[in-house]
Amino acid sequence: MTEINSVTTLTRDGDVDVITLNSPPVNALSAKVREGLFEGFKAAGASDSKAIVLICEGRTFIAGADISEFGAPGGAPTASLFDVQNMMENSPKPVIAAIHGTALGGGLEVALCAHYRVAVPSAKVGLPEVALGLLPGAGGTQRLPRIVGVEAALDMVTSGRHVPAKQALAMGLVDELAEEGKLKEGAIAFANRAVAENKPLVKVRDNNAKLEAAKGKPEIFADFRKANARKFRGFEAPEANIKCIEAAVNSASFEEGLAEERRLFGGLMMGQQSAAQRYYFFAERQANKIPDVPDDTPIRPIKKVGIIGAGTMGGGIAMNFANVGIQVVIVEQQQEPLDRGLATIRKNYERSRTAKPEETEKRVGLITGSLSMEEAFKDVDLVIEAVFERMDVKKDIFTRLDAICKPGAILATNTSGLNIDEIASVTKRPQDVIGLHFFSPANVMKLLEIVRADHTAKDVIATSMKLAKQIGKIAVLVGVTPGFVGNRILAQRQREANKLVLEGAMPWDVDRVLYDFGFPMGPFAMSDLAGLDIGWVKEKSKGETIRDVLCEMDRRGQKTGAGYYDYDENRNAKPSPVTEKIIHDFIAKSGRNPRKISDEEILERCIYPMINEGVKILEEGKAIRPSDIDVVWVNGYGWPVYRGGPMHYGDQIGADKVLAKMKEFQGSMGDDFKPAASLEKLVADGKKLADLKGA
Ligand code: 3HC
Repeated sequence: MTEINSVTTLTRDGDVDVITLNSPPVNALSAKVREGLFEGFKAAGASDSKAIVLICEGRTFIAGADISEFGAPGGAPTASLFDVQNMMENSPKPVIAAIHGTALGGGLEVALCAHYRVAVPSAKVGLPEVALGLLPGAGGTQRLPRIVGVEAALDMVTSGRHVPAKQALAMGLVDELAEEGKLKEGAIAFANRAVAENKPLVKVRDNNAKLEAAKGKPEIFADFRKANARKFRGFEAPEANIKCIEAAVNSASFEEGLAEERRLFGGLMMGQQSAAQRYYFFAERQANKIPDVPDDTPIRPIKKVGIIGAGTMGGGIAMNFANVGIQVVIVEQQQEPLDRGLATIRKNYERSRTAKPEETEKRVGLITGSLSMEEAFKDVDLVIEAVFERMDVKKDIFTRLDAICKPGAILATNTSGLNIDEIASVTKRPQDVIGLHFFSPANVMKLLEIVRADHTAKDVIATSMKLAKQIGKIAVLVGVTPGFVGNRILAQRQREANKLVLEGAMPWDVDRVLYDFGFPMGPFAMSDLAGLDIGWVKEKSKGETIRDVLCEMDRRGQKTGAGYYDYDENRNAKPSPVTEKIIHDFIAKSGRNPRKISDEEILERCIYPMINEGVKILEEGKAIRPSDIDVVWVNGYGWPVYRGGPMHYGDQIGADKVLAKMKEFQGSMGDDFKPAASLEKLVADGKKLADLKGA
């Protein structure tokens, strides 16, 4: 064995040289790995072997460029990666890439320069750069369509999806599947066969047939853009990816297409969107790390989960567990709502395109119902309460759970903002009480706010974080504060949106500005969708707010055909003259004159108080770090990931500018805009929001 460098070895198996990379955690193409590849292929090229296999140790084949190098001086794919690729492609002896885990981004781009690819069935391949606001910058956009064709390439580069090996084999991306666990043997056998059979040294770059087929058919691209316009709205990277595939088809040579790829890659890399999306990649992973709850904290086994409440929330939560094979029992007070809840779960499964009929039966079979907590919860490992938001009801439930559940069971509440310490106080085991705040629909939404109360035990936190991962959620640990992190910040935006309307902006003006910013919809369209009468009580309504008046008129949102907006039979919204008149009446009654409000003011008034609230949350130790707040907002509230999240966006704008605007607004509109003390301090110290420390 020859040690090429600290992450690369060269070994010999008969006539085959084997270059092995071992750079945990994911064999990313760091400078060391690139050097190892370069020197490894040089040495293998000079040896008397007849073929070369490239394989990786650890959990995966090369998972891409080293993202942490991007933006750093001398970072990003350097010439040496292209040199490695050239050496592989031009090797006079066959080069075989042996793939397990994931060959992603630069990893797949390296593999595409091998003459052949062998993979185990569990492997996946993909070009996920688009998720980082980038495009494959090492020839991927030029080589991929030469193998899989233009349509499939467009799909892969703009979705970033990871293609399973079997499918990759059918697409021609992989040449052979090796037996699971026997990749090295399989790849070496393939290499020996390639030599014995004198297989051609396939250079993907020279394969032009699939591109020829797409020449003179600009409609392929036009149709693709049209079909995906909604999905790509606001993002720069998908369009740049499409342009690269277009260049592959229309360029006079491979090199010309490659040059275009490099040009567009550079543009994205320098832009704010990719910076935000790369930041977000690490933010999401960082959120898993709890400073005082180390990775080796013991976990409580969760084999059976109890849920209280068979409504939309309880049912959605139950599905998450059944999806991963965990048994669930749902308790309701009466048979009818229980039956309805269980029937809805079945319907949801049947409607979903992913679950096959037998899978549906398996999952539905894991969820049972009961009318008795005493019966159902004796042996559960975790119980989640998902009833309506009333402290007295929750306290009553937790008193009963304390009496029923076995020692060590985790007692969780799905409250979206009530004080969990108060709930825990009625039990004799506050260490076992935690908040698991799912977002609606709970079987779809990715975010889970895990709420740590004063006495929550560390192993309860560790178990909840792990469980969240198991059920496919992105968990963020937050502290007890009204509305927790997400809703507390949302309240700022909601307050300003309502105030703006009373000053002269129309709901559709506010919605348009926030939609253009990148949210899927604005707050008024959102209210119409959810139903204006959520939390509204007819008997108590005195026409004091615009919402009261709309509800009193039976304009309760989309479901009644009218709310803030008017809706046609296809639920298309249009600005409503009725709403406009109600608003003008309100303004007249207040004795003020409506004023013209600029889009800029709408945006700043909705967004800056959110950033300021994020700072206060950190000040109070209710979030661990600024990036956790961003993860909450991107996953739970539709904050556009290409703007990183409220805290990252605040830094993009400049904390000093946010502070100056808050002060200006405070001067003219009062203390809703009072800057957080730490915002003042960090600006005085010349620091960034990212420098703030939380819990
Ligand atoms: N660069 C640097 N670090 C990376 C990385 C990368 N490409 N991919 C993963 N990591 C790190 C993670 O930050 C994490 O670090 P931590 O343990 O300190 O938090 C660790 O590796 C493990 O990652 P995950 O927690 O995500 O592990 P999983 O097993 O859940 O997932 C994965 C593995 C599927 C490989 C996932 O990490 C992933 O999707 N990585 C990104 C892949 C990617 O986007 N590749 C393209 C990069 S851009 C590129 O190649 C440009 C080229 O075209 C020139």
